[in-house]
Amino acid sequence: MDLLTAIKERRSCRNYLPDPLDDETIRTLLESAVWAPSPANNQPWEFIVITSPEVKESIFAEAQERRKILFEKSGWKWLNRYEVDFLKTAPVIVAVVGDPEKTGADMFLDEGYKAYQHACAAAIQNMLLTAHSLELGSLWFTLFDKSAMRRILGVPAEKDPIALICLGKPGGSSFQTPRKDIAEKTTYLR
Ligand SMILES: Cc1cc2nc3c(=O)[nH]c(=O)nc-3n(C[C@H](O)[C@H](O)[C@H](O)COP(=O)(O)O)c2cc1C
Repeated sequence: MDLLTAIKERRSCRNYLPDPLDDETIRTLLESAVWAPSPANNQPWEFIVITSPEVKESIFAEAQERRKILFEKSGWKWLNRYEVDFLKTAPVIVAVVGDPEKTGADMFLDEGYKAYQHACAAAIQNMLLTAHSLELGSLWFTLFDKSAMRRILGVPAEKDPIALICLGKPGGSSFQTPRKDIAEKTTYLR
């Protein structure tokens, strides 16, 4: 499969089979993550590999709570139909934790201190694409309160829990989300 096909075929998966992932597969996914670019190659990421049902249950409870609060604040009706059971059924969740101290030259610039997040995002996308190439489903999940997630995962206050990546064999096909026309999103300065 060529890269562009893989990029276009990847879908967010919210339905997983319970089959566990073996250690080698998890290692391959992490290997793809650490080969992402980062500012000054400072690699501002850490990964927590979660398979514990108790920890997944705590993550699920936090997401349910956050979903309720989000519904109250936003009034978004689709949240009534949005179930987060995949947080319990995905065999593996990888938490990606960023280190704000390991940002790059941007710390000396106005509006800086974000480059560590960019690097973590690149690492995440590598994992999603690698998962797809291994015929695994994946989901980039962020519906949680950071302090609650630090408590659940034992992450110190100075680190930034960026996202939870659900991974596993897909339990069905995921619907294809549309994309806007490239022309709408692009300006050429010639
Ligand atoms: C930064 C970021 C945060 C996201 N957070 C969530 C989330 O909390 N819950 C969820 O179900 N999907 C989440 N997603 C997945 C998006 O909903 C999804 O990527 C988007 O709808 C496009 O669909 P696709 O991934 O299938 O192409 C997130 C994606 C990104 C990049």
